[in-house]
Amino acid sequence: MKIPWCRRRLLVRRQLDRWFLDLPDAILRHMTGRGDWPPYSLRSFVGGANSFGDVGTTFLDEFWRLGLLRRGTRILDVGCGCGRIARALAADQRLKELGIFYTGMDVDRDNIGWCRSHIARSNDHFSFYHADCYNPTYNPQGSTAADAYAFPHPDSSCDVILLTSVLTHLLEQDLSNYLAEAARVLAPGGVIYASMFLYESLDDAAPGAARHGIPFPFRHGNCAVNCEEYPTNAVAYSEAYLRTLLARLGLETIGPVMYGLQDIVILGKAPGTWAESEPERGWHALEDGCFRWTERTFAVRLRGPVIRKPVLRFRFYLPGVLIEDHGPLRLSAAVKGLPLRSVVYDTPGEQLYVTEIPEEARTEETIVIDFELDKARPPSPSDWRELGLVVSFHESSGRLRRPLEPFLLSQE
Ligand SMILES: C[S@@+](CC[C@H](N)C(=O)[O-])C[C@H]1O[C@@H](n2cnc3c(N)ncnc32)[C@H](O)[C@@H]1O
Repeated sequence: MKIPWCRRRLLVRRQLDRWFLDLPDAILRHMTGRGDWPPYSLRSFVGGANSFGDVGTTFLDEFWRLGLLRRGTRILDVGCGCGRIARALAADQRLKELGIFYTGMDVDRDNIGWCRSHIARSNDHFSFYHADCYNPTYNPQGSTAADAYAFPHPDSSCDVILLTSVLTHLLEQDLSNYLAEAARVLAPGGVIYASMFLYESLDDAAPGAARHGIPFPFRHGNCAVNCEEYPTNAVAYSEAYLRTLLARLGLETIGPVMYGLQDIVILGKAPGTWAESEPERGWHALEDGCFRWTERTFAVRLRGPVIRKPVLRFRFYLPGVLIEDHGPLRLSAAVKGLPLRSVVYDTPGEQLYVTEIPEEARTEETIVIDFELDKARPPSPSDWRELGLVVSFHESSGRLRRPLEPFLLSQE
């Protein structure tokens, strides 16, 4: 497929759109109640300029359905464009109440400028930054190659990472780096939501087969591209290659690939990337993968590579009735008889216990952590769920069954 020169040169195309189309588009938008949309010169780069609002809402509905949005969720939208998804999230009253945090990043300065002044200005939970990463269309002056770009976020700091219509523009080395970076910044139990052009075999991506309405006739290593002289215009991968890459990065697909105009893959950290945990003693199973302690002592066995300065993070849920009836609860822990931190919890709900593991216990691949509560209540058939401290190893919400990794042993 031949792409005209002016379409390829972003600045030229955008300038022409600005001169000739933005004004009539603005008048039309104001007449049709779409005054808060970005101008045509930005919108036209994210597919159908007129479906901008509907596509944003469709994504939002999908995120709700999949159970991705919850209290305090930290979202990173990689390649956020001109805010198609951010605008829908920012307008949702339920999300305001949940206090989600959203960060959008893009290589396109114009997009980031618009999102900052129109979305972030009135939402202090929304922020945007420019990634000065080379892209032949969107950032031809970029200082870092996409295959070497490090997301400026700490490890395990995002719960949901969006990559919509972005991996569809990345060649093999760039894709590998972006997924590795996404895996690094993804918090345990977090989810990567990405769209791609996927084929069983790249032979199926050639003209004629064109399941996505775009043929990919040119092979480029492990991917196939739509246009040889402008390869990042559209890039397709085989599912087999993607799965090999995911395994190497410690990621796995959650649920089946959802095939469509672009194919949606939902990814999480594969168990074992950190430390695997299994109940050792004193556990009471509520249901598959969900446990409650009614005894005062219990233990967990952690298995994983020997790491320097390991820190244990333990997430659990403290039912209100325990505190209301018995007052604050103290949780203590020990490893090999060595005492770890002891913490008092006086509020119900989600809790986090964090402690360093002492030098003497770091030398083996398996360690057993002994926990002790200063109070507990026996199970009761009527309100068995409410009476003890609860930990879940995975969670089913919407169509997703997500690993939660309540015990995380990571390097400080
Ligand atoms: C088709 S748009 C999709 C925008 C947005 N994700 C959406 O679904 O509305 C592709 C976006 O990816 C951005 N992009 C391209 N290469 C990128 C890279 N290496 N890093 C971050 N963003 C990139 C482009 O600037 C563009 O805004």
